[in-house]
Amino acid sequence: MRKKQLEIALQKLAAHPSPSAELEQYMTPGDVAATLLHMAYARGDIARRTICDLGCGTGRLAIGAALLGAKKVIGVDIDPIALKIAARNARRVGANITWIRCDVGKFESSGINTVIQNPPFGVQRRGADMKFLHRALKLAGVVYSLHKATPRNRAFIAKRAKELDVKITDRLELDFRIPRQFEFHTRDTYKFKVDLYRIERGDKNG
Ligand SMILES: C[S@@+](CC[C@H](N)C(=O)[O-])C[C@H]1O[C@@H](n2cnc3c(N)ncnc32)[C@H](O)[C@@H]1O
Repeated sequence: MRKKQLEIALQKLAAHPSPSAELEQYMTPGDVAATLLHMAYARGDIARRTICDLGCGTGRLAIGAALLGAKKVIGVDIDPIALKIAARNARRVGANITWIRCDVGKFESSGINTVIQNPPFGVQRRGADMKFLHRALKLAGVVYSLHKATPRNRAFIAKRAKELDVKITDRLELDFRIPRQFEFHTRDTYKFKVDLYRIERGDKNG
C-alpha cells in the first residue's frame, strides 16, 4: 500500500466521540501516522513482525501496521471507549488486532518485535511521554515514538538513551496539526513540530 493510500485510509477511521484532555486523546494526523508506518515498513520493522501500539486510542497506528502486513498487532489503551471504537474501525477495514485495556506502565508481554506509539506529550501529566518510552523499550527491540520537538525534550531523550544503553538510529522532525477539540482550545487548528524517533535496543530481538 502506497503512503498516500495509507494516509487516506487512516484518515477515514472514526474518532473518539468525547476525547479526554487529561489523557491527551488526540488522533495522530493521517500524514504523520503514514510517515511513521512507512518508515517502519521500509526498515523491515512491520511486515511479518509482531507489533504493539501503546496508547492506541482509536487505532490509527495499529490498524496501519496491520494493513502493511504485520504478523500480529496488539493495541493497548487505558480507555475502554477508545478501544471500542478502535475495534469497530479495525472490523471495518478487515484488520485483525488484539485490543487490550491496560495502563501502559503495567503492560507486560513477550514476543513483541516493534512498538509504535504516539504517547501523550506529557503536557497534561508531566513525564507521561517518558513512562511510555521506558515501557516500550522494555517490550521490544525497536521502538518508533513521537515526541514534542523541543530542545529540552531532545536533550532529555538523548540523555536517557545513553543511560539505558539504547541507540537513537533516526530522528525526523515533522509538522503535527490537531483541530480544536478541548474546552481550553481557542484556535481552530494547533500546529507544532514533533520528532519521530526510531530507537534500537542493543539486544534487538528477531
Ligand atoms: C496522543 S493519543 C494517541 C492515540 C492514537 N495512538 C492515535 O494514533 O490516534 C494518546 C493515547 O494514550 C492513551 N493513554 C494515556 N495514558 C495512558 C496510560 N497510562 N495507559 C494506557 N493508555 C494511555 C490515551 O487514552 C490516548 O488514547
